[in-house]
This record gives sequence, C-alpha cells and structure tokens, in this order.
Amino acid sequence: MSNSGEKPVAVDNGTHNCKAAYVDATERPVAVQNKRGDFCTPSVIAFDDDGKPFLIGQEALSEGFVRPDRVVANFKLKLGSDEVLYKGDKDYTATDLVALMLKYMKEQIEQATNTTVTSAVLSCPANTRDDFRAALIAAAKMAGIETITLITEPAAAGLAYAYNKQYDRRFVVFDLGGGTLDVSIIEVTGNNITVTGTEGVAQLGGRDFTARLEKRILDEFVRQTGENPSRQDDPHFFQELYQKAESAKITLSEREDRTVVIGCRGKQAIVKVTRKEFVSMCSDLFDKCIECANKAIRGCNRTWKDIDSLVMVGGSSRMPYIQEQLANVSGLAPKNDISPDRAVALGAALKARLVLGEKGVLPHPGIFVREVSSHDLGCCVLKPGGKGEDDLVQVALIPKNTPVPAQKADSFFLQHEDQTAVKIIIAQGDDGSPLKQCLKIGEIQLDNLPKESKRTQRIKVDYTLDSNGMAKVTATDLVGGASQAVSIDCKQSIGR
Ligand SMILES: Nc1ncnc2c1ncn2[C@@H]1O[C@H](COP(=O)(O)OP(=O)(O)OP(=O)(O)O)[C@@H](O)[C@H]1O
Ligand SMILES: [Mg+2]
Repeated sequence: MSNSGEKPVAVDNGTHNCKAAYVDATERPVAVQNKRGDFCTPSVIAFDDDGKPFLIGQEALSEGFVRPDRVVANFKLKLGSDEVLYKGDKDYTATDLVALMLKYMKEQIEQATNTTVTSAVLSCPANTRDDFRAALIAAAKMAGIETITLITEPAAAGLAYAYNKQYDRRFVVFDLGGGTLDVSIIEVTGNNITVTGTEGVAQLGGRDFTARLEKRILDEFVRQTGENPSRQDDPHFFQELYQKAESAKITLSEREDRTVVIGCRGKQAIVKVTRKEFVSMCSDLFDKCIECANKAIRGCNRTWKDIDSLVMVGGSSRMPYIQEQLANVSGLAPKNDISPDRAVALGAALKARLVLGEKGVLPHPGIFVREVSSHDLGCCVLKPGGKGEDDLVQVALIPKNTPVPAQKADSFFLQHEDQTAVKIIIAQGDDGSPLKQCLKIGEIQLDNLPKESKRTQRIKVDYTLDSNGMAKVTATDLVGGASQAVSIDCKQSIGR
C-alpha cells in the first residue's frame, strides 16, 4: 500500500447503508464498491457467541434471519446518546457501532484504492445537534479516521451536482434516506457554491414507510390465521416480516401492487398491497416531507418560483408518490442524474478534495463552498422580572441559516448590583423559546466578580461556530477581566 497522508476520501454513514467515495487523479469523484461489489453496505452488525462483532453489512443482514437477537441495525440516529444498544463482550453504544462501520468502510476504500486511509470527510444529517456531530467524530477516531471536516448530507449531494458546473443557478436538494429527511437550498454563482438554507426532520426516512407496511402485513396475518405472533416468542417471524415489508415497499416503486406470503407457527397468509393503499397508509409521512421542503424554501425567504431545479437524493426519494407530490408543489421535474444512493458520498469526497486544496496538500481547484448553521445558537437569559431557571429564555446570537464559519458577540447585564457570580447557559434552540425547549449544550461559570455600583452590560459572550458546526463560547467580565471559554463537544453536553 502507498504512504498514508491525507487523501480526498469520504464516508457517508447512513442509517440504512454506508457508502464511500474518493476523488481520483483525474479529479473525478468515484464511488467505492465493497468487497461484494456493492456500492451500499448495509449499516448492520452481527455478533458472535463470544459477543464480539464478526459480520458487517450484507452478511450481517443475512445473519439476522438466523440469529435475529445477535444483530444490530438503525444505530446511527442514536449517536450522541449513551444508551447501550448491544450487550456483547462489552456494552456497545451507537458511537461504538458506528466506529465498527467506519472501520469497515475504511478497509473497503483502502482495498479499492490500494492506499492507506487515515483521514476522511464524513457526512452527517443537516438537522443534528453538536452532541451527534461530536459523537460521529469520536467514532471516526476509534476507527482510525481523523475527520478532515464534516459536511451536511444535502450539502454534500448539492456539491456533487454543482461541482465544476460553473453556471449560475439555485436548486433544492431533497434527501430522503433510511432514517432522516434533509432539504437544502444551494446557490451556485460562478465558482462559489453556497448552501443558503437547510431544513430537516431528524427521524423521518424509509424505515418509517417500511414500518407502516409491516403493520399492515402483520394485521392481515393475524386476521387471516387467528395467530398473534409476539416479538419475544417469534423473532424469526418479525425478521421475515421486516424483510418482506422492505422488499414490498421497493417493488411498489416499480409496480402498482405486490403480494407477500408470510408464515408463522405453521400457518400462512397471503397479503396483497397496492401502491394506492401504501400511499394512503403513509399519507401523513408524505405530508411531512412536503411540509419540510416548503419550510426550507420559506426559511431562506424564497418561493418555489425562485428555484431552477429540484434534485432527488436518498434511496427513499425513488418512491414515485413523493416525486409526484414534489413536482406538483414545485412546478419542477425532479432530477436524479447522479445515483440517489451515492450522491452524498461523491459530494463529500469532493469536499475532501476542496479542503486538501485549501490546506495546500493538493492544488486548489478554485471552487469555494459555504454552509449555513442548522440551529439557532445562543444563551439563555432571564425574562424581564424573571427569577429562576423556569424564566430563562433563549437569545439566539447565531441564528439558523447563518453562513459558517460564523462569529458573534453580545453583552449582558448582571441581575443585581451586588452580584459576584454568574452562570451562562449555552443552548441550541429557537430564539425566544424557554430553556426547557432548548438543548443545553454547555455552561460557563464566572466567580469572584467585583461588585458594581451601577449595572452595565459587563458580561460579554463571544461565539464562534466552525465549519464542522462545532461551537466555541467565551464569556468575559468587562469590569473585572475574568474570562472563561468552553469548546462544546458531546462530553460537555449536559442534557436537554
Ligand atoms: N426503489 C425504492 N423505493 C422506495 N424506497 C427505497 C427504494 N430504494 C431504496 N429505498 C429505501 O431507501 C432507504 C435507504 O436509502 P439511503 O441509502 O439513501 O439511506 P441512508 O443514507 O442509509 O439513510 P440516512 O441518510 O437517512 O441516514 C431505505 O429505507 C430503503 O428502503
Ligand atoms: Mg443518506
């Protein structure tokens, strides 16, 4: 293998599938095929009898039919929480499981490129908070990958579409994957690509649509057979139910109906589902998707008339009904010239190429990308006349959709003239919302403050938000000079 050192590679760690890509010597982004020859590696891990992880991807998925209790999936969305998702030779959290996936993906890239990979760009959903991002970076580190930078998934897909095009346009990226929905508005002006707005639903994706079909097939099985399978006693039935529902959903993107045969406890049911029925059982999910797209457009003060094209990304964007609905609301024909599964990884690899150009590791390609923040970031202050924590409300210093990196400062009064200490609560949440509706992401305590005879705006709070979406906050007492800073990552997140 050739020397290590930074290379333009990226991993898109999806809820359902992981994908990887690199930029080759001719400056083209290339999707990586895993050792089975697939571009998508299922985000699934199987454990052996000793509780050690032993299969990853498609093999682990297949193992799920034999030993469903030994297989974990859908862990990405738990990043940032300490919940134990699998008890094996040790307790596995989402960070541990994502680390295993990333390590596997690193090996696939190394095999495909015949080089050693030590760093990569990682994509993450747009609508995630700092604790998720920090956990993703930590997982990468455990996998032996330094994070060159994070890029939000729809921004990466936008980059795959916009890179090297060099014409002025504004387009929407609609990314409906396995577990999350992200919508971004991208503006291209010459060589500048700017993500001007982003909206997302953190827990809405293909698995929710599959779950509706699972319920329908299960209800019909119970009705036809009189049997009532339980997850505890019939784990194989539920594994088969999931697999059949998933496969039926995909067929319904191609055909008008699908018949499923499913058995348990020696009984069998034959269930026919039409696309029309599927659409009707998922109508609220489809509505949420459209709502999110409209909100993204409104969030950057645009209407659909201002948009030149609509790009569909993520496996679930293949559902014909979502394409029809979006075409109706936008007046645009949805495009998917780049594979919806691979667009994020390809764009993230291009981002890696850009960063290596900026760092001087490779020649600068002369293309510039800017992203916007995805949450209101600020600190909580007392409402006028307020007394305790219940009266704290969020003041957004760096509002959502601010281009990053960003910097902002503001100064605040102490509550009383004789006050000698203050606690600054840093939070993500909408401007004006009470603390309990915000994510408290850090706090700074300033003590031994000199008393002041007349109150002034003496507590200055400086915010910086870097291009990874990570925040640094410094609080300074302008009277006494005391200053404390906090870099916010998952370890300092202190709960909702
Ligand atoms: N033809 C199809 N019709 C409907 N759904 C599909 C089709 N092909 C794939 N999907 C769904 O797409 C999802 C996987 O897409 P993708 O690989 O883009 O997700 P992901 O990147 O893993 O998830 P996320 O980005 O939400 O973390 C699965 O839920 C799968 O069922
Ligand atoms: Mg995805």
